[in-house]
Amino acid sequence: MRFPQYRPRRLRANATIRSMVREAALDPVDLIYPLFVKPGKGVRDEIPSMPGQFQLSVDQLPAEIDELRGLGVPAVILFGLPSSKDAVGSEAYDPDGIVQRAIRAIKTHDPGFYVITDVCMCEYTDHGHCGILDDSGYVLNDVTLEMLAKEAVSHAEAGVDMVAPSDMMDGRVGAIREALDSEGYADVPIMAYSAKYASGYYGPFRDAADSAPAFGDRSQYQMDPANAEEGLRETALDIEEGADIVMVKPALAYMDVIRRVKDEFGYPTAAYNVSGEYAMVKAAAERGWIDEKRIVLETLTALRRAGADLILTYHAKDAARWLAADSGKA
Ligand code: PBG
Ligand code: ZN
Repeated sequence: MRFPQYRPRRLRANATIRSMVREAALDPVDLIYPLFVKPGKGVRDEIPSMPGQFQLSVDQLPAEIDELRGLGVPAVILFGLPSSKDAVGSEAYDPDGIVQRAIRAIKTHDPGFYVITDVCMCEYTDHGHCGILDDSGYVLNDVTLEMLAKEAVSHAEAGVDMVAPSDMMDGRVGAIREALDSEGYADVPIMAYSAKYASGYYGPFRDAADSAPAFGDRSQYQMDPANAEEGLRETALDIEEGADIVMVKPALAYMDVIRRVKDEFGYPTAAYNVSGEYAMVKAAAERGWIDEKRIVLETLTALRRAGADLILTYHAKDAARWLAADSGKA
């Protein structure tokens, strides 16, 4: 048929009609900005493999939160670099640990700003694994659950709004839910890293959080990149155990999983646009090989289209700035 009735280009004629028929919306309110907190004063160390991202001391946080607020980004997820590490990751559940202090600093400065914490052991253990090891170096599941529950409760005591377990132990959402409930934090929601894959895309993060495993890798607890069905089963388990928001991570190589998780469960679904995804864009942009703004906004919009309600991304501030400029608000 040479002249079809339906001519899609009619609705692409100008910016007005394109915006009127646009399906997926990208808004700063859907973005969550990751922050790395470390000991010290006046510390702002740029992460070499993540240009534009910094390890910050606690005193730097108020200014950071003001900036995010100004940009319309409502939430951060905190990662801690402790002053010391040991075999059982003691600082993870220390009431005066780095993340606990960061939570209090943000909440004192701006009580309405939404604070999420990553709950895991790898930043706090001297061996860099996400749990407690036995003599052979195997991560013990149920022993680790107790530590994660303690960590989550200590974040709640410090005033966190939501906790996000990223360890991938079996049963951790249930264990954390039970602990929070019994300590009086039944209203603190859990965003579960549900379909979290053993991924090469976490490389730069391990510099950022100083959390590379000292031996082996995370394949005995994180998921095989080949498995989508299993991602649905993992998500179903987390929901059964009490997850309020489910997450797929990484984002770009797992967009099929995002779509399936959203369709299957209809739960609030988050996508983690991870450190390696960020680093690739920054590296290519620095060389002038790609148009950074265009690629970032395209990528984040595509994640929304794929079914992500929320996006954790290091591009959050830039994206919010670009969106404001495009809408004439800045
Ligand atoms: C901790 C954790 C990791 C990330 C988030 N939480 C690293 C890992 O599992 O190895 C990755 C985030 C990123 O790459 O941006 N378990
Ligand atoms: Zn971990």
